[in-house]
Amino acid sequence: MNCPHAEAAGRTGALPEPLAVDPLVRDLAGETARLAGGPPLARLELLGVPAWTITRQAEARRLLTDDRLVKDIEAWRLWQSGEVTAEWPLIGMVNPGRSMFTVDGAEHRRLRTKTAQAITPRRLEALRPTVERIVAELLDDVERAAAEAADGVVDLKAVFARPLPMRVVCTLMGVDEAEIPRQTRLWEAFFSMLTPHEERMATLEELRGIFTEMVREKTANPQDDLTSALILADEGGEPLTEEEVVGNLQSMIGAGHETTIQLVLATVRHLLGHPDQLRLVLDEKVPWATAIEEALRYDPPNSHLLMRFATEDIEVGDQIIPKGDGVVMSYRAIGRDPEPYDSDPDAFDITRPTPIRHISFGHGPHICPGAALSRLEAAVALPALFARFPGLELAVPDEDIRNLPVLTQNELEALPVLTDG
Ligand code: HEM
Repeated sequence: MNCPHAEAAGRTGALPEPLAVDPLVRDLAGETARLAGGPPLARLELLGVPAWTITRQAEARRLLTDDRLVKDIEAWRLWQSGEVTAEWPLIGMVNPGRSMFTVDGAEHRRLRTKTAQAITPRRLEALRPTVERIVAELLDDVERAAAEAADGVVDLKAVFARPLPMRVVCTLMGVDEAEIPRQTRLWEAFFSMLTPHEERMATLEELRGIFTEMVREKTANPQDDLTSALILADEGGEPLTEEEVVGNLQSMIGAGHETTIQLVLATVRHLLGHPDQLRLVLDEKVPWATAIEEALRYDPPNSHLLMRFATEDIEVGDQIIPKGDGVVMSYRAIGRDPEPYDSDPDAFDITRPTPIRHISFGHGPHICPGAALSRLEAAVALPALFARFPGLELAVPDEDIRNLPVLTQNELEALPVLTDG
């Protein structure tokens, strides 16, 4: 594959060697350290495919509102030339089907507006008692699991953090509770780099089939849920098509659960790793919201968000992203950008003097429409967890906590804890 970066780098000055991102995510900290605090534009290699990545907050904000950078895969030179094909294992992350996630401009506004508008503060407040009920049920499960485990160790991910967002987003969208185990299994297979390519694409098809059937049922028999609201909504007399509602439903569930699992786990992990800071939160000297925002900055759920494409040459610092090239947002490196902070960006610090200004929910037209929902889930789950288990502690040294083999997401394999340490 010809590397377009060589030419661009030659024109504008040398860049460090591309970082070949490890699909098995064995050293996320090391990879972040290589990208963070360096030039705003760096080079990645994604399973043999070159891409640029943005590692600084100011440049990310600028580019995420630059309409010369688009989601439309047809703008990708390597796709047009056939150098990247549907066989590339990451293609499902870049091109998971038409939805608000993959389109631009007016088409994006049309697909997104109804969904984003439907997640109103009123709808979220109405969901709060459901979130509280689910959290309380899951805490009972944690208690049971701890009592049953010979060594008292519970995987907080499996028993608490993983089921919570899936149950909440399924309630919001009106997916049957009985469907949740199948949804969980399919999405895990979709994201894992261990899933063979054909199986991943088949998983996406199966999900689309399930959602199409669901949209048909709700069209015939609308309920009080967001999917029905999308079916019934008419954007200036032009309702969303069945395929569009399916795409949005798929994006909401796909984007809405893995990410929130990590938000809950990261906050627990880093507070347990910093007992002095946990004390400040439990004594109400620092709000939970601050701890949640610091976890979002320090250890965000998306490590590398794939992908946008340059429709013209775009300058970034003293470099140029050539027209047709792919661009990734490396949110973990962006969170460690020293520029917006007075204090060490590599420290988890809920007491930092500068306000926490992260962009872990994105920025610009594609900014996450589910941010308030995931913040609500974390804000309910975390105080309830620590109230039920005041002696909670990590059951393994922090360095033994591993990531799942998911190249794009920062997701833990497990978070082993002792509930009455
Ligand atoms: C978009 C992060 C939770 C639904 C995004 C984007 C980011 C993000 C960075 C921007 C993608 C881009 O620029 O291409 C997160 C994080 C979450 C979270 C860190 C939790 C901590 C949720 C939840 C939902 C959701 C709970 C749904 C209930 C979406 C959707 C998009 C999106 C549908 C696509 C929006 C668009 O392209 O216009 N999210 N998200 N996310 N998120 Fe989230």
